[in-house]
Amino acid sequence: MLPTPNVVAPPMAIQDNPIDKLTTYYSETSFYTVFFSGHNNMTQSQVPWEAGGSTIEEVADGYDWEAALSKRGQASAWSPWWMDQLPPPPIKPIMLTGGIPDPPSLPVEGLIAANDAVLHRDAKFALMYGGPQGYEGLREWLAEDINAREGLSLTAANFVLTCGSAGALSDVLTTFVDPEDAVILEQPCYPGSTRIARSIMCHIAGVGIDDDGIIIDDLRQVVTQLKVEGRRPKLLYTISNFQNPNAGTMSLDRRKAVAEICREHGILIAQDDAYGGINFETEPLPSLFSVAGGTGAILMGTFSKTLATGLRVGWVMGEQAVVDAVTRMRFDMGVSPWTSRVLHEFALSGAYAKHVPAMIDIYRSKRDVMLSAMDERCSSFGTWSTPKGGFFVWMKLNDGIDTKKLRYTANEEAVGYVGGEAFFADGTGAEYIRLCYSNVAETDIPEAIRRLGRALEKAAS
Ligand SMILES: Cc1ncc(COP(=O)(O)O)c(C=O)c1O
Repeated sequence: MLPTPNVVAPPMAIQDNPIDKLTTYYSETSFYTVFFSGHNNMTQSQVPWEAGGSTIEEVADGYDWEAALSKRGQASAWSPWWMDQLPPPPIKPIMLTGGIPDPPSLPVEGLIAANDAVLHRDAKFALMYGGPQGYEGLREWLAEDINAREGLSLTAANFVLTCGSAGALSDVLTTFVDPEDAVILEQPCYPGSTRIARSIMCHIAGVGIDDDGIIIDDLRQVVTQLKVEGRRPKLLYTISNFQNPNAGTMSLDRRKAVAEICREHGILIAQDDAYGGINFETEPLPSLFSVAGGTGAILMGTFSKTLATGLRVGWVMGEQAVVDAVTRMRFDMGVSPWTSRVLHEFALSGAYAKHVPAMIDIYRSKRDVMLSAMDERCSSFGTWSTPKGGFFVWMKLNDGIDTKKLRYTANEEAVGYVGGEAFFADGTGAEYIRLCYSNVAETDIPEAIRRLGRALEKAAS
C-alpha cells in the first residue's frame, strides 16, 4: 500500500470516483463546509515517493493499481480536497467556495449560435484532428487581442492552445523543469498549480506576496538560498493579476524588479493570467512578457473565468522558441478543434466583447455586496483588502479566532469557505480564509455573511 498522506479522508461516496465526484463536489452548492487542502498538507519530506512505495510483488487478488504507480503517479495520486467528517448542516448551506463563473450568466444562446454556424459551415474541419498547436484562427484572434492591449506585434505563431490555464502550466513545467530544478511559487498560491508542480517532482520554494504582488526582497533571498543549496531556480510561477487567493495585483515597479531578477538569474517567468480579464477598475498593467521585453517570460491564459470552465481552452503565449518547445511536448493531439472554432466564432461575432464587461459588472456588484456585508458583520474578527478584480476576498483572521473550531461553527451555520491552509505548500496559513463571490447568487451573499459572522463569533469565544 502507498504511505498514507496526512490528510483526512473524505467520505466514501467521494472516494469512489475521486476526480469526477470531487469536480462536482467542488462546484456544487449543495454540499456543506468545504475545507480543502490536498497535497498542501504534506511537507516536502512527507511526500509518498520519499517515504518509499510498494512493489509489483505485492499484487494480491485483482490488480493492485496502487502498487503499480510510477513515482510521478504516486506524486500525483489524488489527494482529496478534504473535509471534516462533519454532520450535514441543519439547513441548506451557502457556499463561498468554488472559483467559477456566475452560473445563470453562462452565454448559452450565443454558444449555441456559434456552434450552429461552425457545424453548418466547417464541420469537416471542426470534427477532424487539428494539430498540436491548436486552431490557427483562434490563435490569430488571441494575438490581435493582446497586441491591441499591450502594443505588441505577436502573431498566431506565438500561441499554443492548451487544456485551460492548468493544462498550460502542466505543459510548460513538463517542457522546462526537471526533478532536480527548483520552481518558485507565490505563497499563498492556487492549490491546483502547486499540485502540478509536485507532479513534476521538482523542488518547490515559496516566495511571499502582499497586495502588490511578490515581495522583492523575499524573492532575492529565495533565489540566493536556492543557489546556496546548490539548486537551480528554473521557473517562477506568478498569478500577477487579481491573485488566487489573495486578490492582489503585482505593481508595475515590482513587475520590473521581478523581470530584472529573473533575467539576471536565468529564471523563466510563467505568468498565469486566469483572472486578468475580470478587472473592476484599474488600467490593466502590462504582462511580465511585455515588461521583460518579450523574452524569458511566458503568459498562460484561459477562457475559463471570463466565459466558462467547461470549455477547457487556454493558451501559452511566448516567443517562438518557447511555443515550439511546448508544442513538441503535446502528445494529446491538441485541444478540440471544434471547441476552439466555436470560441473563435463567438469572439468574431462580437459576443465575447459584450459578454466580458457584462460579467465584470455582475462580479463588481457581488463584490460590493459581500464587502458591505463583511464590514457590518465581520470587521471585529479580521481584516481584508478590496479586490480590484477576480473572484475572491482573502480574509486574515484575528489572533483570537480558533480556526479549527471555525470549521465546525461554519458548518453549524451552513456557510462554506476555503481554509487558508489549502493555499500554502507547507500547510501553514490557517489564519486566513478565502471567500468567493463569483459563483454564489448575489441575493444570497448578505445571508452567507450573516452566517459567517455568527460562525466567527462562536469561534472567537
Ligand atoms: C490561478 C488559476 N490558474 C488556473 C486555474 C485553472 O483554470 P483552467 O480552467 O483555465 O485550467 C485556476 C482555477 O481556479 C486558477 O485559479
